Amino acid sequence: MKILITGASSGLGAEFARQYASSENELYLLARREEKLLQLKNELFDKCKKIRLIVVDVRDFELLQNKLHEIEALDMVILNAGISLGHSHTEMPTIAEFKNLYDVNVLSQHAVLEVLLPKMQAQKSGKVIFISSLSSLFTMPSAKVYASSKRALNAYAEGIRYKYASYGIKVVTILPGFIKSELTDKNDFNMPFLLETDEGVRRMKQAIDRGRELYAFPLRFYLIIRILSWLPSALRQRIVNYLA
Ligand SMILES: NC(=O)c1ccc[n+]([C@@H]2O[C@H](COP(=O)([O-])OP(=O)(O)OC[C@H]3O[C@@H](n4cnc5c(N)ncnc54)[C@H](OP(=O)(O)O)[C@@H]3O)[C@@H](O)[C@H]2O)c1
Repeated sequence: MKILITGASSGLGAEFARQYASSENELYLLARREEKLLQLKNELFDKCKKIRLIVVDVRDFELLQNKLHEIEALDMVILNAGISLGHSHTEMPTIAEFKNLYDVNVLSQHAVLEVLLPKMQAQKSGKVIFISSLSSLFTMPSAKVYASSKRALNAYAEGIRYKYASYGIKVVTILPGFIKSELTDKNDFNMPFLLETDEGVRRMKQAIDRGRELYAFPLRFYLIIRILSWLPSALRQRIVNYLA
């Protein structure tokens, strides 16, 4: 398979590269930090000889699209690049922070697909994997911008799924809970059901390989969030106040 992984220089993206590295696969690894990508390429060389690096800031939509135009056809794209503002954000985020987060978490995904979907459409196959978050289902006040970006991503993914299903293109939306990475290393609170990076990615890969459309995990955390969102608003408010 030819696979593009965005945000491949660390965390989940780098682990996806490790778990998809094999002699049958050709990997395109995309991120800004070239040295991290090179390190990963060297690490994986014995398992996978065909690794290409795409060094680009996904907020530079024009350059990003120019680089993607050079790729012929892909079997799968894992839209994983993403940022958070950190949970300790007590003040209202600035417009600049808000926009920056949306550029990475939402608009860049569209910039990628604007180039790649017509190619998948022409070949009548392909998989698009959206890495969303359980936080898209229940918004803690400190994560409001991040959560809203992931909820927007869920809606966008749903639309892409319906539009392209008849072209043999499969869309998978993944909603992970907490997984160890540079992003969660910044959190200074106890993260419930925190998973090791390799275990988190192993579960996501299994869901992708099994053809799941939506995968929210860990299950117990997902169920707690579902129950919270069904509670009466006043009770939910008290729980949020307590958790915050
Ligand atoms: N870890 C969790 O608990 C968790 C839970 C739910 C969802 N997620 C989602 O999983 C995805 C991966 O996050 P992670 O936890 O693995 O965090 P991470 O270790 O911080 O990885 C983020 C990746 O995104 C890339 N990236 C960020 N800004 C970019 C930009 N402007 N241009 C190009 N690449 C950029 C980073 O590469 P460079 O800095 O080298 O550019 C890095 O490779 C994110 O979408 C996140 O929202 C994570």
